[in-house]
Amino acid sequence: MLDGYGAVLALRAAGASLVIDTAGRVPRVLHWGADLGPLDAAAADALRATAGPAVLNNSPDVPRTFSLWPTEFEGWAGTPAQEGHAAGTATTPRPQTTAVRHRPAGRDGENGGTIEIDLADEITAIRSTMVLAMDRFGVLSVDIALQRDASLAADGAPIPYTLDSLRVLLPVPERATDILDFTGKWCRERAPQRGPVFFGSHVRRARRGKPGHDAPFLVVAGTADLGFRRGEAWATHLAWSGDAEYVVERLTEGAGPFSATIGAGEGLRPGEIVLADGERYVAPTALFVWSAEGLDGLAGRLHRRLRARPAHPSTPRPLTLNSWEAVYFDHDLDRLTALVERAARVGVERVVLDDGWFHGRREANAGLGDWFVDRSVWPDGLGPLVQLVRRHGMQFGIWFEPEMVNLDSDLARAHPDWVLGPRDALGATARDQYVLDLTRPDAYEHVLARISAIVDEYAVDYIKWDHNRDLSEPVSGAAGIDRPAVHEQTLALYRMLDTLRRRHPGLEIETCSGGGGRVDLGILDRTDRVWASDCNDPVERLQIERWTRMLVPPELIGSHLGAERSHTTSRRTDLSFRLIVALTAHAGIEWDLQEADEDELERIARWGAAYRELRGLIHTGTVVNADLADDATVLTGIVATDGGRALFTWARLATSAAGQSGRVRFPGLDTAARYAVRIREDVGEASRHQSADPSWVTGALRPDGIELPGSVLAGAGVPMPTLNPQQAMLFDLVRLP
Ligand code: GLA
Repeated sequence: MLDGYGAVLALRAAGASLVIDTAGRVPRVLHWGADLGPLDAAAADALRATAGPAVLNNSPDVPRTFSLWPTEFEGWAGTPAQEGHAAGTATTPRPQTTAVRHRPAGRDGENGGTIEIDLADEITAIRSTMVLAMDRFGVLSVDIALQRDASLAADGAPIPYTLDSLRVLLPVPERATDILDFTGKWCRERAPQRGPVFFGSHVRRARRGKPGHDAPFLVVAGTADLGFRRGEAWATHLAWSGDAEYVVERLTEGAGPFSATIGAGEGLRPGEIVLADGERYVAPTALFVWSAEGLDGLAGRLHRRLRARPAHPSTPRPLTLNSWEAVYFDHDLDRLTALVERAARVGVERVVLDDGWFHGRREANAGLGDWFVDRSVWPDGLGPLVQLVRRHGMQFGIWFEPEMVNLDSDLARAHPDWVLGPRDALGATARDQYVLDLTRPDAYEHVLARISAIVDEYAVDYIKWDHNRDLSEPVSGAAGIDRPAVHEQTLALYRMLDTLRRRHPGLEIETCSGGGGRVDLGILDRTDRVWASDCNDPVERLQIERWTRMLVPPELIGSHLGAERSHTTSRRTDLSFRLIVALTAHAGIEWDLQEADEDELERIARWGAAYRELRGLIHTGTVVNADLADDATVLTGIVATDGGRALFTWARLATSAAGQSGRVRFPGLDTAARYAVRIREDVGEASRHQSADPSWVTGALRPDGIELPGSVLAGAGVPMPTLNPQQAMLFDLVRLP
């Protein structure tokens, strides 16, 4: 550890770096972007010497700085790092660095490392520690913890401090002219939106008590040419499952020597965090990623970070059958037995019993909270079903929605005060339900005990953990007054997930929230899969998953084969298209297989076999996406980290005016290598809008495929078949020795 106070310090890894100057009152960023190499004294001095912008007319008489804790004291008139007050006083924070600790990793610090900064502020009587950590993949995380310390203030800070906001904000250069982030709705999560960095603030708030279907997800500031494989990008994500705020902001005077800022912080409700002497607030981790290789470069760093976690799922991701769109609430042992038998036949390895198994849950308006097996439909309990599943060598999973309650439940009747919301009059239901106040120890213990009991009784391998409504008016009456409780509720959720995983080693958990309404790296630290969307329609799903993969690697994304006619869009699609789209993630089935004929069952079984063959690659490889001019077409793939094999999906969503694709380049391949290219038709042929394939495709359709150099595949490109809309083709490439 080095005492770095006053020095220029760098965190460097995998071609990225953050350089800060710790000489001022608060450290400031000198550079965030490409690695500048090991900084010698001359380079460090030069970076510092060039960090002061011009002093503009009609502005502060000293050069403005933009620090890691921007305040008005520094002349910063944009969104500050911290807002709050002590009954209307202490509104002008002036933190001052008291110590800096630098722990570089690697010989020249080329494997990242950490910089810890201690700050003390006499105005707000707060001590804080900011930890900047760069992992070896170049992803920067920033953690801040605050503690009220009355001894800092001359008057002993008798009034508690209300923290209104705390954000981590980093500066980005003038070439970051575009904003890309996400929005969405139920069944259309992670829809990208893009626009210019205008002067002013682009603020995205998640105020649903969860990230939401319209979550900003990953907020990117990038160069005008930003694409999947091109352009430079600076991105942020808040690893938090409660309320959040993301900001991209540009003032005419810039941000120190930079142009704009990007950052994130928890969205705090009025009076939610009040700190008396000695009390602490720990902010959620804000992640920052830079890439000079477009969006795929961002995703690559984030995927490598996640995959390096000790708890990252390392066993083969089992082919899953989920009962929801197969039987909904019709929990009938005979019907489910037939479904499980068919599932076993096509190679399913895990069966998940979805909503409908617990007391009083005959439809969606009752029962939430009563986590006892419903004896009216399961007279012998779940044992007979679980035993059948186990006899087939499959795992057993089950659905819970632990944070919710229906008023029509024994739980709500016994404990009406356990409902989160204003005590005098609850607001409207959503999906007929309310949120359970897990900040109450008794409610928390009750739910935890019920889940544990079911997991123990049936040796449950897997929980699908759902969360089907927003937290609106989320106040807890636990203390006798109604106080905002999203922060505490989110921490209670995390505590419960952590406790269950400790108590039941090997238990896996999927995070679901009406589909993909709660996909963030906070919950993913304690879960093993995200249900990306309730939409199994492959046209929608292909896009939802493509964008979900910007943050989440394919092995953590559930993707299911649905019915021919989508239950959520009514669109009809071919089996082969549905199967190909469901393949390149953590695959599963959510369809009543009784509807499938013999030919379909065989194709599904072949798909299951292909999934088992390819999942080692799909679940460890690098995700790549081609930048295509025709956005009715998609070329997306996964390339093994050693480059030895790659799998690409060529899909057409709609027709295009153009008849031909022209030469399309397969991204991520080695242009110096040769590849055996094979088009796999295990699951059926894609229907074409042409009378004959390009001749090389005819070769690739032969069982042994065709040999092509990487220079042609990845450099020059190859003409692709013109598919009919809603069709896809799978290309399997093996690098030749
Ligand atoms: C949510 C989930 C679905 C299903 C239903 C059950 O909508 O996203 O997958 O589990 O709840 O009610």
